[in-house]
Amino acid sequence: MGTARKYAVIDPGTGKIDRSIFSEQAIYDDEMEKIFGRAWLMIGHESLVPAVDDFFHTYMGEDPVILSRDGQGRLHALLNMCRHRGNRVCRVDDGNAKRFTCTYHGWTYRNDGALEYVPGETEAYYDALDKGSLGLIEARVDTYAGIVFATWAKDAPSLEAYLGDARWYLDTVFNRRDGGMQALGPIKWLEPANWKTMVDNCSDNYHVPTSHLASARVQTRWLGRPPLSHEDQFASPNKHAFVNGHGITFRDADDNTPRYVHGMSKETSRVFRQYHEATMPEVERRLGPLRARRVQLGNHSVFPNGILGLRLALPRGPLKTEFWHFVLVDRDAPEELKRVIRIGSQANNGAAGMFEQDDVDNWRQVTAASTSRLGRRHPQDLSMGLGHAGPHPDYPGLVSERYISENNQRLFYRRWEEFMNAESWAQIPLDPIKARFDGTATMRG
Ligand code: FES
Ligand SMILES: [Fe+2]
Repeated sequence: MGTARKYAVIDPGTGKIDRSIFSEQAIYDDEMEKIFGRAWLMIGHESLVPAVDDFFHTYMGEDPVILSRDGQGRLHALLNMCRHRGNRVCRVDDGNAKRFTCTYHGWTYRNDGALEYVPGETEAYYDALDKGSLGLIEARVDTYAGIVFATWAKDAPSLEAYLGDARWYLDTVFNRRDGGMQALGPIKWLEPANWKTMVDNCSDNYHVPTSHLASARVQTRWLGRPPLSHEDQFASPNKHAFVNGHGITFRDADDNTPRYVHGMSKETSRVFRQYHEATMPEVERRLGPLRARRVQLGNHSVFPNGILGLRLALPRGPLKTEFWHFVLVDRDAPEELKRVIRIGSQANNGAAGMFEQDDVDNWRQVTAASTSRLGRRHPQDLSMGLGHAGPHPDYPGLVSERYISENNQRLFYRRWEEFMNAESWAQIPLDPIKARFDGTATMRG
């Protein structure tokens, strides 16, 4: 007999989910170990550290990490913790430095993590200190189309295998241009909600006509966006797909329409259309006609906590999440377009974003319900579209029949269980890469 699973929080037959995973400290502590201690985590973008000796301070779960580019141009993810007594060796958000000196006793590390200098190495330590074993703790680093990922797990699969066929969809935003992308930001703020609720929300199109009714009406009236009703959503040919924990939503239409991004309006549509037409031959060469013309990535999540482009949902306790919102733009796009996207993105999804404010209040209540004496005894219901997803002839992953479905959410929590119940990476299943990646785009851009 196999050993009993520690976590069985989602009932695959009914979609009922145990609310305790949104509030209990012990489960949260286990997540830090089993999920954030072993998954590939999005930590930044190469454009944040473009030159040698650049660094950017980020986080892997709750662990502070310095993303640095050493003198040879290689990337490192270094735990920001002095190996002597644990002081932070870097106290700023970003910069350019060959070394990090600890402010407590002065141990000094190179930007590749090696411990280079210790005051009193002879006089105080009698030359007995093994400096070679006392470099900063380093994570494995890899990149996909300029996005930097890192993992603490030595036995983790390659990043390419981890992303799997989700990359087939992600390429349609992140891998369009030869020149790659550029990250602006981040805007940072705290939300009083469990980190999983924001990730789950990335595949929740069901809430949009209700939660965002007022925002959508304003946008229809002033920006010329089409009205957004439940009926439109139910009839939409758009789809959801799920691969290896990653939740994808995408527009499925070959109507030569520029992909929607925040910032599009009656006034700016001309700039978007010109850019769409000017770049389509290049995009088609890089991604092949199906992905270039037909598939437009919508909201999405990269397991566990990378969401909506380059946004990090950083856990800060079971009831709190720190959001880092970057705006990603094609590096070679016209400045006018970059400006419109930057402003549009903040107006919708920033700390003061119109849509963001609608969302956060729902998420706060969802989290709070898990702490109430009576409320937490009753599971959430994630039964929508049960039994209506499967393989698709054109699209990789497990594809939902309808755009409005909770299939991706159910599978996200099942993935969560797979990580939480596994002793090691050997017990975490991965779907093999099966998609055909037409075009010249690769993992490296
Ligand atoms: S804690 Fe860093 S040098 Fe002592
Ligand atoms: Fe929303």
